[in-house]
Amino acid sequence: MDFLQLAKERYSVREYESKKVEEEKLLKILEAGRVAPTATNSQPQRLIVVQKEEGLNKIKKGAKIYDAPLAIIVCSDHGHTWKRPFDGMNTAHIDASIVTDHMMLQATQLGLGTVWICYFEPEVIKEEFNIPENIEPVNILAIGYAAGEAASPDRHNTDRKPLEETVYYESF
Ligand SMILES: Cc1cc2nc3c(=O)[nH]c(=O)nc-3n(C[C@H](O)[C@H](O)[C@H](O)COP(=O)(O)O)c2cc1C
Repeated sequence: MDFLQLAKERYSVREYESKKVEEEKLLKILEAGRVAPTATNSQPQRLIVVQKEEGLNKIKKGAKIYDAPLAIIVCSDHGHTWKRPFDGMNTAHIDASIVTDHMMLQATQLGLGTVWICYFEPEVIKEEFNIPENIEPVNILAIGYAAGEAASPDRHNTDRKPLEETVYYESF
């Protein structure tokens, strides 16, 4: 499928079937994340794949994952992130988010639904999954087969700002 069409067909899925995600599809999603670019190729991402009931229940203590059968907690290792020398900006969240986005779009291409989750309690997630101090959970990607009606790819015509509102040419 054409990339732009795929990007338009993706939507946040907040209702899932109970059907598990096949191992083969999971591996492809993880591979898409593996090849994502990161600053200086430092690859600070550390992923926790959660699909057993016990793990999903642990996630639910700190995040709402809409009963998705699979969740990937995307973390960044602060010991391995690049820091911009001019202002100290650290790319931990950027790197983790590019990995998340690659996986999200790969899942879409495989016919799966996803929702990107940042609204979670980091300390609860860290505690439940024994995440060390220097590793920060940045995003949770919930994945599964979508239930309910799919959002229309045409929704972007009204749901998103027109380019004129967000793009500047040559100068702000
Ligand atoms: C960085 C980020 C954080 C998000 N956090 C949440 C979240 O915690 N819970 C949720 O239900 N959706 C979350 N979303 C989904 C957005 O609400 C959603 O992408 C946006 O409203 C556009 O809708 P669409 O994904 O259906 O196109 C998040 C998306 C992004 C990119």
